[in-house]
Amino acid sequence: MKTLSKTLFGGLKALERQLKRDEWATAKYTIILDENTFQHCLPLLISGVEALQEAEFVEVPAGEECKSLEVAAQVWQTLIDGGADRNHVLVNLGGGSVCDLGGFVAAGYMRGIRHINIPTTLLAMVDAAIGGKTAIDFGGIKNSIGHFYPASLTIIEPTFVATLPQTEVLNGKMEMVKTAAVTNPDLYAVLLANDSIPLNAIKETVRIKESIVKADPYDHDIRHILNFGHTFGHAIEVHAHLPHGIAVGIGMLAAMYLSVKKTGLESAIYHDYSMWLRRYVDIPHFTLHDIEPMLDLMHHDKKNAAASTQCVLLQALGAAMIDVEVSDNEVRDALLSITRQP
Ligand SMILES: NC(=O)c1ccc[n+]([C@@H]2O[C@H](COP(=O)([O-])OP(=O)(O)OC[C@H]3O[C@@H](n4cnc5c(N)ncnc54)[C@H](O)[C@@H]3O)[C@@H](O)[C@H]2O)c1
Ligand SMILES: [Zn+2]
Repeated sequence: MKTLSKTLFGGLKALERQLKRDEWATAKYTIILDENTFQHCLPLLISGVEALQEAEFVEVPAGEECKSLEVAAQVWQTLIDGGADRNHVLVNLGGGSVCDLGGFVAAGYMRGIRHINIPTTLLAMVDAAIGGKTAIDFGGIKNSIGHFYPASLTIIEPTFVATLPQTEVLNGKMEMVKTAAVTNPDLYAVLLANDSIPLNAIKETVRIKESIVKADPYDHDIRHILNFGHTFGHAIEVHAHLPHGIAVGIGMLAAMYLSVKKTGLESAIYHDYSMWLRRYVDIPHFTLHDIEPMLDLMHHDKKNAAASTQCVLLQALGAAMIDVEVSDNEVRDALLSITRQP
């Protein structure tokens, strides 16, 4: 894996300075974007960063749809048609979908060219654009093909959040709350106390993710704590057709419920989180009939080694346990119980 990877919090100004350095002197750039980042983010990027004024750009479908082999092939073809060599640089201007696709394309082109992530969603700033995982969806399975291939640079420009739909902001905030819940009670408290997203909280979340990735770059052990809320969350996302971050928010409630029962989490943490979550999210009313297909999804969750359910649970805020075995009855109990007001 390439190891040279740097996150710059100074936004586009920092990128402008960085691209004047020697290592970028002869680079040529292709910007990958979608219709929304073309409209809301490209003008700022081009006017703020001189080196990108001559860049080519390729527009891909917005959202998850761009993470396909067909779209990757189209970008590779554009690079070949334009004579891109190993000194070419891909600039991923978008959310996690564009960053995942662009990193995947960069990893494969001529055995690997440099790429720069410019995340434009909150979720991508604090999560998807950090940590080197790239992927496309293939064979009907999300993120089934990909590499560990970190961006040379990741640029955090928080002003891009201003044009994001509210649901996307909430998706990103849920992933921030997740990272904070498993690592940092102070950050967790700040996030729950503020309706807005303090800039320092974005920085702190990125810093935490970077340090976890540094300790476990290939996701063998400690990085699993970032899956908190995700075993339940994936099943809720698919079954209730909810956006990923919001489903993870509900998944965290289920995981906290089981944490109180199994790993000693104080019940007040569960109750406070439940009150907070209900201000933003309608929790679906799950019946036993709903829960059976969700159990199937949880058994098949790729993060589980055997046909059982393993979850990240909390002993306390900031103290997570990975791979805790959870029985089907415990899953049923959790999903039925979180629907009730505490
Ligand atoms: N690689 C990783 O470690 C990692 C981690 C988490 C998630 N992901 C991946 O990230 C993807 C989700 O990313 P996401 O939540 O950022 O969503 P997204 O990239 O799909 O973007 C969501 C929508 O917001 C629009 N958008 C983006 N920036 C905008 C802006 N500034 N203003 C207005 N609209 C804007 C996009 O065009 C799109 O329609 C998933 O595919 C997921 O698998 C990857
Ligand atoms: Zn997630």
